[in-house]
Amino acid sequence: MARVHTPRIFSGIQPSGGLTLGNYLGALRRFVEKQGQIETIYCLVDLHAITVWQEPERLRHQTREAAAAFLAAGIDPAQSVLFVQSHVPAHAELGWMLSCVARVGWMNRMTQFKDKAGKNAEAVSLGLYAYPALMAADILAYRATHVPVGEDQKQHVELTRDIAAKFNHDYGTDFFPSPEPVIEGAATRVMSLRDGTKKMSKSDPSDASRINLTDDADAIAQKIRKARTDADPLPGSMEGLKDRPEARNLVNIYAALSGETPDALLARFEGQGFGTFKPALADLAVSVLEPITRRMNELMGDPAEIDRILLAGAEKADAIASPIVAEAREIMGMIRGPR
Ligand code: TYM
Repeated sequence: MARVHTPRIFSGIQPSGGLTLGNYLGALRRFVEKQGQIETIYCLVDLHAITVWQEPERLRHQTREAAAAFLAAGIDPAQSVLFVQSHVPAHAELGWMLSCVARVGWMNRMTQFKDKAGKNAEAVSLGLYAYPALMAADILAYRATHVPVGEDQKQHVELTRDIAAKFNHDYGTDFFPSPEPVIEGAATRVMSLRDGTKKMSKSDPSDASRINLTDDADAIAQKIRKARTDADPLPGSMEGLKDRPEARNLVNIYAALSGETPDALLARFEGQGFGTFKPALADLAVSVLEPITRRMNELMGDPAEIDRILLAGAEKADAIASPIVAEAREIMGMIRGPR
């Protein structure tokens, strides 16, 4: 009989810059919603961040700031495991083991690698190329069954399923589950405020393209006021926004923030222009984000407390992952070692 894997959530965010509204709506807020319903493990993936250059002092700051964002958004260390990837050696170790299972051809199909490498694929780090194998290890070191992510990470979670299936097949086992991407809600792909065809991203050179979780009320209102839109009034349903990516994006952001469906929202705003919609969106965004930013700032006033929470989280994570990786080593034929 096939093994039944205990439901468990794992997800991660790179501390490679300040977190954005995209990270919040597409991931973080949903991490909080899952808490208490199922076992939840959340990770600040610093080993992923260093696949591109990170200024060491900035990386340390951003890792603590991302932890503060998790806590401020409502992640409770008593209910979820919250930790830093590099504190738990199982990730790097299983990452290597799975990079011997994954195939080069699979990596070559990863659209995020192609986007990030651009024309310069020969000059990027080897780590950037192998990144999806490390991500598979993050998930499989906990034998997680569900992975809440934004739309852009779907392909990586699907690759994790392929790697798990090949491992199970090659070694004649059902050791690893086939983790499912969980992509839900109106904001699975929040777009840039300057260009509705591009994802909102912490690495976009234009700060006006995104709302950062560290932005104050004035900055949020100003970015929304200046967001690119068109001159037409809003239609009564999403169908009417098919060819208006910027308008669609703002409507999706509003709906995600207010918890309405985009169609219900449009039924309220039908016929109105952005002169009315944008101030309403700015007020809503500020009312949701301001308390989070305030709490983040308070938490950042006591970095030692953040470190303490992260170290306690790492101990819990290690206690789960280390025996799983030891068993995977044994399945692969390594002699049992000291751990
Ligand atoms: P990262 O750090 O780019 O993003 C973290 C999470 O935020 C989501 N996200 C968005 N959602 C909606 N709209 C956007 N504009 C937007 N931008 C980002 C992402 O989909 C993601 O869920 N490789 C991952 C980190 C990772 C990971 C993992 C995730 C490493 N190991 C294991 C899950 C499980 C990444 O770079 O996410």
